This record gives sequence, C-alpha cells and structure tokens, in this order.
Amino acid sequence: MDIRVSTRDVQQFDGDALAVGVFAGEEPHGPAAALDEALVGVIAELHASGEVTGAADEVVLLHTLGKIETARIAIIGLGRREHFTLARVRRASATACRALRKAGAHDVGLALAWADSGLNLAQAARASIEGALLGLYEFTLYQSTPSAHERDGQQQTDEHAGRKHLHSITIIGRGREPALRAAVERGRILAESTNFARDLGNEPPNVLTPCEFAQRASAMAERFGLECEIYGPDWMREQGMGALLGVAQGSHQEPRFILLRYRGGAADEPGLGLVGKGITFDTGGISIKPAAAMDAMKMDMCGGAAVIGAMMAIAQLKPATNVTGIVPTTENMPGGNAYRPGDILRASNGKTIEILTTDAEGRLILADALSYATRLGLTPIIDAATLTGAIVIALGHLRAGLFCNDDTLQRTLMAAAEAAGERIWPMPMDPEYNDLVRSEIADIKQTGTRGGGAIAAAKVLSHFVNNLPWAHLDIAGVTAREKRDAEGDKGATGFGVRTFAELAGILAMRKG
Ligand code: BES
Ligand code: MN
Ligand code: ZN
Repeated sequence: MDIRVSTRDVQQFDGDALAVGVFAGEEPHGPAAALDEALVGVIAELHASGEVTGAADEVVLLHTLGKIETARIAIIGLGRREHFTLARVRRASATACRALRKAGAHDVGLALAWADSGLNLAQAARASIEGALLGLYEFTLYQSTPSAHERDGQQQTDEHAGRKHLHSITIIGRGREPALRAAVERGRILAESTNFARDLGNEPPNVLTPCEFAQRASAMAERFGLECEIYGPDWMREQGMGALLGVAQGSHQEPRFILLRYRGGAADEPGLGLVGKGITFDTGGISIKPAAAMDAMKMDMCGGAAVIGAMMAIAQLKPATNVTGIVPTTENMPGGNAYRPGDILRASNGKTIEILTTDAEGRLILADALSYATRLGLTPIIDAATLTGAIVIALGHLRAGLFCNDDTLQRTLMAAAEAAGERIWPMPMDPEYNDLVRSEIADIKQTGTRGGGAIAAAKVLSHFVNNLPWAHLDIAGVTAREKRDAEGDKGATGFGVRTFAELAGILAMRKG
C-alpha cells in the first residue's frame, strides 16, 4: 500500500476515488462544495433531497461520469461539527476506505481532515491515515484465495472472499506539507504496528505457540533494528522463575522469555520497561474453564502482542530514550505434570505464592517478568495483560483498567492514552486492598475471595515491582471485538500498542 500526502485542491486529485465529508445540519462545505461545482450541483441536489444528511457514518457513493478525472466520490457523514473529534476523523476515514474498497476503487484520496473543522491539521491528517489503515485491516491468512474460489465454482458473496485491495491512499490536507507528511508517517507507523499486534492475536493457538510467538518477535526485531534475546526453560531455571515455570509445566510446548531492546537514550540509562502477558492459550489448567467460547483464550497473549507491536512502532519513531520490552510466554494446559491448586510456587524475587486456582496464571508469569524488569532497573515499568474477567464486569469492553502506584505516572499514562485514541480508566489501589492476597502459609496468595477480582490481581503484581513506579493495564475487556464495527474488524484490536508508543515519546520529551 502506497501512502501519499497532497495539499493540492481535490479537483486535481488523479486517483480513481475521493472521499469528502459533510457535517450534519450544514450545507456541504470545503472539498464537497468544491467538487460540487465541477459536478454541476449533484452533491447539493443529494443534500437538498435528504439523501446526504451528514449523519455520522453515512456513506453515499456517486459516479462522476467524466466530469472530473476521479471516477467515484464517497460523501461521508461527519456528524455535527461541534462533536467533530480526531476519533470521528478515524471513523470517517475507515468508513470511506472500506466502502471504496468494496466498490472496487484502487487509488483513494481522503479529504476528510479539512481546514475548517477546527482540528489541528497535522493531528487530523495522522488520525485520517490511522483510521484508514486500522479500518481496512482484515485477517484473511487462512481463507482460500479468490482465484481458488473461482476454480471451485464457488459463489463469492462474502466481502472477505472477494479480497479487494486498495493500491494507494492519499491524505489530502491543508497546511505545511512537511508537517503533514511527518504526521501521516507517524500515523502509518502506529497503525501498521497495531495491525501487526492484531495479526499475532488473531493467529490460531496451534500456530502461535510460545516458540512461534518468540520467532515472530525476533523476525520483527531483525527487520526494524531492535536487539532481541529469546530464552528457554533452562535459563528460566537459572533465574529461579518458579512461577512462570509452574504455569508452563502442564504444556508440551516449551515456554519462552522474549526480550526486546530499543536504544534511543544514554547507555547508562535503564529506561522504560514494557511487560506483556503472553499466554498463547489459556485452558484454565487443572481448574479448567467452561467449554463455551474457550477459543477466545487464544488471545490471552494480547498484552505481549501489544508490547511487541509497541516496540515495532518505537523502533521506527525513534524517541530519545531507552525502552525494553519483556514478554513471558507459555500455554496454560491441564496434564499429568500440570501445577495444582494448593501448590506453592517461588518467583524469582524469592517470594512464595499460594496457588488457589490454576486459572489465575497470568499474574504468575508476570510475577517473574516484573521481577526481571525490576532487576534490570527499568523505570517506569508498565505491564499490559488480559488478566481478569472481573475488569470486564467493571468496565465492559470500552476501557482498559489502569492500576498504578504513582500519581505522576498515572497522569502521564492517561495523557498518552488520550493522545493515542485509546481509552483507559484509573482503578483504586488503596493499601487496605492488600488484605485480599494475604496468605497464611505463603508470602502471598494468588487470588482474593470475594469481590474486587481485578484489584486483587493488581495487588499480586505489586509484590513483584519492588515499589518502583509501575502501572498495570488490565486489557481483558478491550483486546477483542465481537463483531466488526466502524473502528475495526472482528477479532484482535491491538489495544495498547499506540498508548505505549505515545508514552515512550512523552517520556523522551520530558527528559530533553
Ligand atoms: N485470561 C483470563 C482472563 C480473561 C477473561 C481474559 C476474559 C479475557 C477475557 C485469566 O487468566 C483468568 O482466567 N482469570 C480468572 C482469574 C480468577 C480464576 C481468579 C478470571 O478472571 O476468571
Ligand atoms: Mn486463566
Ligand atoms: Zn489467562
């Protein structure tokens, strides 16, 4: 896919399709008005007749019948001007690109982030390419090609099976071209890195084993110039990672410990640590999960995928700071050698954990990964994990839960998520909640008893960060979409990639 930037007028665009926006309750403005002149008033006519209203997510396609070089126009509803935000630019761009791809267009110009919208021009241009690339994403790796369908004489009703592709997207904007170009490049990097994380999440668990997960991280690191180290069970034993090994012992697949390093800061500065849960499949272990929807547990590595995707973005955005990505990865399986409820495991910081259910495995593998991050002196440390069903009860599928032991870091992360267009929400960490995980026979117990399940999980993690500035994102509710919507296809969302990349940028700027 070619990505271009143009500051010329829409009438001069030479691709085969253009998307222009219309606000609800207003006459067509900007690019729509400019095209309308060349099109002898057809857009004004559609507006007057009520076919174009400007309602959010509305799409009206029309052909230009040789009046201008571009064959097709998509008129996209932007909603009301006073509600127009970067999120709306993303949605409108996604809607436009999907509609035009479906219609068979190849070279699309997006004139949705226009000057009179009141938004920052560069930010709007960035949001437009982000929305387009995130909206166009599909996971089609395991569907036969269209030509195979044709050979079999099968009917193609599914948009997926049609497999149409755009060749180029041109962001048509106003303002200084170099600034637009830089913003669009940033958007491209963030969207492509998010889509990489989505691919990892969508892969089936028989393909994306812990070894394969590590392989993908290592290939990505090679491509973008990151340092990468992959460790196996022998190294974990040397490190004393009894919690990670405890979870891994029920699986025939070997666990891996993935370490990615980006160096943009001083050699002696430890820098930011990003840690992600990498359970490639969570059966629940001996405390086995109900069968219904267990397939969704192939996405229990999405925290890890977010870290790897963020490292891919950071490698290209090059913030002036060091960043280390850490992903412990294993399956959680039942089996003759699986760990049991009642077991006591010792993590690599020496603390013992009383196991009450083998389904609370995420906090265990993170215990060893966070201890390791702490030993490297990384600061701050942020983890992302599909950790608890309880956070889904608390926040639903809109926002991830943020648990933090440092007010400044909490504010910084909220700002990073805001800039990234991802939604997180602070959860409480009062010291009184420590009682949830107090054990009578080990240093801590693995789960609480009654309510507050997501907080209890965060409290377990807090025992492994040695009081360093740390934040935990429980992303169990936001890693997967149940069905396609305006922001993306069904499946993995890649949540966290953009917030982490923004955070690295903000921390680098603060130092400088
Ligand atoms: N991976 C799950 C959490 C999860 C639930 C992720 C729903 C995505 C969607 C985690 O390992 C788990 O099983 N947590 C248990 C913990 C409980 C047994 C204390 C849970 O939340 O039910
Ligand atoms: Mn589990
Ligand atoms: Zn899990």
